[in-house]
Amino acid sequence: MNAALDTPFLLGMMRLHEAPDLHAPARLADWIEARLDAGLDWFDHADIYGDTRGEALFGAALRARPGLAARVRVVTKASIVTPERDASPLRVKHYDSSPAYLGRAIEAALQRLGVERLDHFLLHRPSPLMDAEATGRALDDAITAGKIGAAGVSNFLPAQWQRLQAAMHQRLSVHQLQLSLDHTQPLFDGSYDALVGDGLVPLAWSPLGGGRVCSGVAGALLERLAAERGATPAGLALAWLRALPGRPRPVIGSLRAERIATLQADAALELDRPSWYALLEAARGHEVA
Ligand SMILES: NC(=O)c1ccc[n+]([C@@H]2O[C@H](COP(=O)([O-])OP(=O)(O)OC[C@H]3O[C@@H](n4cnc5c(N)ncnc54)[C@H](OP(=O)(O)O)[C@@H]3O)[C@@H](O)[C@H]2O)c1
Repeated sequence: MNAALDTPFLLGMMRLHEAPDLHAPARLADWIEARLDAGLDWFDHADIYGDTRGEALFGAALRARPGLAARVRVVTKASIVTPERDASPLRVKHYDSSPAYLGRAIEAALQRLGVERLDHFLLHRPSPLMDAEATGRALDDAITAGKIGAAGVSNFLPAQWQRLQAAMHQRLSVHQLQLSLDHTQPLFDGSYDALVGDGLVPLAWSPLGGGRVCSGVAGALLERLAAERGATPAGLALAWLRALPGRPRPVIGSLRAERIATLQADAALELDRPSWYALLEAARGHEVA
């Protein structure tokens, strides 16, 4: 079953392997439990985060705390083969969405994370070599087998997900794309409209541009508008995203409890149209045509 992404944001795990204070299983289990208790139950992983360490650390924490695995909702991604992981003598970075590769990737992620099912399994990057019929069948079969709740994509162009979708019985669930005040291009090249039109749930990665949205001209305006609303600049930057049709779910990167709590407190903010456009103009450096 496709779990509904009813959450103000997902917690991105890309930086977990760089946070040694969270590496002890009991400590990370406490951290996960605190987020769950606060109503944040979606965690975004990928096999390449820390070269599988991110998923492994998370899984060790779930194993250390009985009952936790049943409460978390996980998104994970695979298909990127790093040069270190390429078994060929060429040691070349590449993408692999072949059924054999994906089958192994799904099993390995289930093992590492210690969950019974991956709620959403995404192809991390599109491959020009993708055989849509074969990949689509592999994803359909993984859903039927109950190994994944739903299949989705990340960093795909519309024609790329549409080619895959046309070969599948199940509906693709989500598209995880780079989207923020720091990266507005999908709003102007038709790709954002296409994903909403195709019924994909947008997951916005790096929704704060890795922290950059809070600096420069846009950062100054965020600060002023946030102060007027008794909110934080980062909270307002997420509200800017949520104002879009399809209500993108940000995938935030901070692991700091206080920052996460602040972003959650600001999650009900709504932006009026002039403020939304003023932020767009400040971020892009020019007014709309
Ligand atoms: N699908 C893909 O290809 C793809 C690519 C990249 C990322 N992702 C996903 O997206 C997630 C988020 O990426 P990201 O880390 O670039 O996202 P982000 O939320 O835009 O940036 C997080 C960074 O911003 C900093 N930051 C500065 N001020 C902040 C504030 N007031 N509140 C919160 N954070 C603040 C954080 O610092 P502190 O850590 O010090 O709090 C952290 O380093 C990743 O974890 C991953 O799950 C997916």
